[in-house]
Amino acid sequence: SEQERIRNFSIIAHVDHGKSTLADQFIRLCGALSEREMANQVLDSMDIERERGITIKAQSVRLQYRADDGQDYTFHLIDTPGHVDFSYEVSRSLAACEGALLVVDASQGVEAQSVANCYTALEHDLEIIPVLNKIDLPAAEPDRVRREIEEIVGLPAANAILASAKDGRGIREILEQVVQDIPAPRGDPAAPLQALIIDSWFDNYLGTVVLVRVMNGSLRPGQKIRTMAGGKEYLVEKTGVFTPKPVHVSALDTGTVGFVIAGIRSIEGARVGDTLTDASRPAPAPLPGFREVQAQVFTGLYPIDSADYERFREALQKLRLNDAALQFEPETSQALGFGFRCGFLGLLHMEIIQERLEREYQLDLLSTAPTVVYEIETTDGEILHLSNPAELPPTNRIREIREPLIRSNILVPEKYLGPVITLCEERRGRQVNLQFTGGQVMVSYELPLNEVVLDFFDRLKSVSRGYASMDYEFSRFQAGPLVKMDILINGEKLDALSWIVHRDFAERRGRELASRLKDLIPRQMFEVAIQAAIGAKIIARETVKAMRKDVLAKCYGGDITRKRKLLEKQKEGKKRMKQVGRVEIPQEAFLAILQTE
Ligand code: GTP
Repeated sequence: SEQERIRNFSIIAHVDHGKSTLADQFIRLCGALSEREMANQVLDSMDIERERGITIKAQSVRLQYRADDGQDYTFHLIDTPGHVDFSYEVSRSLAACEGALLVVDASQGVEAQSVANCYTALEHDLEIIPVLNKIDLPAAEPDRVRREIEEIVGLPAANAILASAKDGRGIREILEQVVQDIPAPRGDPAAPLQALIIDSWFDNYLGTVVLVRVMNGSLRPGQKIRTMAGGKEYLVEKTGVFTPKPVHVSALDTGTVGFVIAGIRSIEGARVGDTLTDASRPAPAPLPGFREVQAQVFTGLYPIDSADYERFREALQKLRLNDAALQFEPETSQALGFGFRCGFLGLLHMEIIQERLEREYQLDLLSTAPTVVYEIETTDGEILHLSNPAELPPTNRIREIREPLIRSNILVPEKYLGPVITLCEERRGRQVNLQFTGGQVMVSYELPLNEVVLDFFDRLKSVSRGYASMDYEFSRFQAGPLVKMDILINGEKLDALSWIVHRDFAERRGRELASRLKDLIPRQMFEVAIQAAIGAKIIARETVKAMRKDVLAKCYGGDITRKRKLLEKQKEGKKRMKQVGRVEIPQEAFLAILQTE
């Protein structure tokens, strides 16, 4: 039957190891697009993604392949995001497959994120085909990389395919192996519909597009469907597949992957991981594994120009249409005025959203340092979850502050192990595992997430000369001696700089921060006092001296046009400053917490 000649698979690869280039080769070989139509890297649909070279939204293509056995096969290649922030999307994409290609850059070796994704694939019982890509590079070391795959991932790799997505070597061999090794989808065409939502996004013309893998039964226009976790009902208007161009089909049968248009107004209505079923003949149970994704990293975002506030709100609402993981709620800061506290899956997710707000919506924003969610138990036994340190209840009402811990796996060449361990220990990490392999070491730590949102990734890269890679997941909340530190500018508390920090580190970090702020806050016409305080106790003090008279005279020498020009120039340069009381504070100051010595 047709179902026996379907193969559903993903590519697991670390960023830059060649996933998109390889996908292009498959599409070429399967003749889905003429060369002329073939834009570079068709799988990545958003500009910003292409520039960053990171796949954010999973997409899928249907390919027709005539194998050496003379039969025609239907492939669904399901794209997965490669970055640690998007691990839930990866796991949903993998749940829609029977197999995966593990693509490793033969000149680089295995990276932590790919290992994590392979484990996820193995949990879903996927058949994994190892591929060593970039074999054309003189620096390729296939033997070492094979050993790493065997020792770190635990997969036999003696027969790993040697490929080059650049010169086309090994491409056909990969597809033959897909046909032979990856099982056809099981599933019962006669059973009630169960379709896994792999992805959903908002399209201005089509409304919400839902990408699904049909596990049992079938989906067709005219059918009434229901989301099993969400409990909402819709009428299917269209069904289709990406080739990669969108093409309408009369039905999505058992085992296939395709898209559904069903008049869903926002992606809230069809969350990734939920199950679609037939409303008039529902399946007895949803597919396993649906969960709500939780934002883990929060930051306050404030328009530099308060007149932009409404535009900012609209921009966030629009972005949220396509990104159910983005959270936001209005927030008021004494220092910064009206803004939003925004929640993200991780630091990369945060950067991407900030960049889109600035580029696509032309907003000038000021951001506060990212924080994590703390669990607070008050003396009345109430449990609060707070992401804004400024909202912490007074000390005498707090019984306990608990911070989120993550479990991280770091993969690093042996010679950089020492500095990586030192870094983890400095960040209050607790080692849970250490495993030596070919030339790399897999070291696992439990770390407080608030130490990681500082500059952990940058430091990790720098102490390992760029060789260490890391993945992490939330592990648990743990109580600790945590205190709130405030920053006072000329005696006034700057709420946007309040910070929760471990008591043992508080004094040192307070001194460092005050000293950094001193360098960042420009001289004003008067003296500026910077203080770090815990409760009523001042732990550090610095002073920004007043500007000298002659400097002032030079800049603003009475000539009003000149002064205006100067101001305009400053505006052009988009210097992000915020007036706090009488003091002008630059954006960098709000992020000064992020750097550690
Ligand atoms: P993300 O989309 O960021 O996840 O990266 P990716 O894994 O899709 O990598 P991509 O296909 O964008 O390739 C990364 C870089 O490696 C590009 O500059 C490619 O041209 C290059 N590249 C990919 N495959 C090969 C190969 O087989 N040989 C050589 N020499 N370069 C390759």
